[in-house]
Amino acid sequence: MTQLFEKSWIRSLELSNRTVRSATWTGTGDEKGFVTALTCEFYDRLARGGVGLIISGYQYILPNAVQLPYMLGNYDDAQVPGLKRLAETVHAGGGKLVGQIVHTGFRANPKLFPQEGEIWAPSETNDPTVKHNLKAMPKNQILELIQAYANAARRLKQSGFDGVQLHGAHGYGINQFLAPCWNQRGDSYGGNLSNRYRILGEALEAVRAEVGADWPIMIKLNAVDFVEKGLEIRETLEIGKRLANDGIDAIEISGGSASSPKDLGPVRTKINHDIDEAYFADLAAQFKEKVKVPVISVGGFRSLQKIGEIIKNNCADYVSMARPFIREPGLVNRWLGGNISRATCISCNGCFESGLKGMGISCKIESEKAASDNS
Ligand SMILES: Cc1cc2nc3c(=O)[nH]c(=O)nc-3n(C[C@H](O)[C@H](O)[C@H](O)COP(=O)(O)O)c2cc1C
Ligand code: SF4
Repeated sequence: MTQLFEKSWIRSLELSNRTVRSATWTGTGDEKGFVTALTCEFYDRLARGGVGLIISGYQYILPNAVQLPYMLGNYDDAQVPGLKRLAETVHAGGGKLVGQIVHTGFRANPKLFPQEGEIWAPSETNDPTVKHNLKAMPKNQILELIQAYANAARRLKQSGFDGVQLHGAHGYGINQFLAPCWNQRGDSYGGNLSNRYRILGEALEAVRAEVGADWPIMIKLNAVDFVEKGLEIRETLEIGKRLANDGIDAIEISGGSASSPKDLGPVRTKINHDIDEAYFADLAAQFKEKVKVPVISVGGFRSLQKIGEIIKNNCADYVSMARPFIREPGLVNRWLGGNISRATCISCNGCFESGLKGMGISCKIESEKAASDNS
């Protein structure tokens, strides 16, 4: 029977347990996306906390892909020394580190572009969250984008990271190409599923050619977009099978985006009871049953009991969390040490506030507690 605290492998990568820190923007990069001392401090705490695998916050692969302030960049070879320091920090703390890479497509924020650039999107869309005029990317930009994924993965490998995760979820670039609501192209990159999948298949091929056969390539994928004409499970299972066939090494299952109703987004609030936990686990279980690659389940996990159940019942191979590790970077070691009470994170999303101010994300509840203890 599969156990949570046992050794496992994702391709060549050996992991000490089946817990994963899901990709989390930390708001610790500089204005051009370079790693800072604050970034390393954040990841050092995490690496020493016992989690089996850390997936970095999303790193933008071209200057016109930045979305949130102080996001990490991976679009220039000059960023390699910083990324290398980050990987060394995590390894020194006993952790393993995979880099998540993204083009945010029409969700990029041009106010943050380091130089002028246009927004890239598969096509025009009537998505109400879109505030800019969009035009369909011409073929030369699609080829540039595919090359940017390969270059970013190559930089991660050069920097000593243990693998790469393509961000294919939450309504960003890859998800925009996959979903009919955001991809209304009439050429070979739009229309039927084979065409909408094409850019992802080509990016995966380009990344694999760059990093070689042994180095893990993972993806975070929306199982359901929760928008009209968005991806549904029937199609995403088919995408999962194609990815498996094309050599992906693990699939993390998420859902929703800034375009879906708030209570169906990827980062949900009000996880107060056991029943609110694991809100995408049933979708992950369908991938586990039908797609023959390791599956990571994310979304609202808070208790060791729930995580253990998911692994024991073969509903996923790994369980990932984001917010619980912001409040408690040492959560896994706490559990291993015998204190198995629920994660203390109350899922209020207050942690974004300090990150947006350039101080790095932190738990607002902990800061308020510390302030009142000192008063
Ligand atoms: C502060 C913050 C930053 C996040 N940044 C990313 C990111 O860079 N990439 C990503 O795929 N998801 C990101 N997420 C979503 C998480 O990875 C995760 O899917 C979601 O928070 C649900 O998991 P949780 O309930 O364990 O927090 C972020 C979430 C938070 C709260
Ligand atoms: S502010 Fe703290 S309690 Fe609230 S979601 Fe973030 S980590 Fe959890």
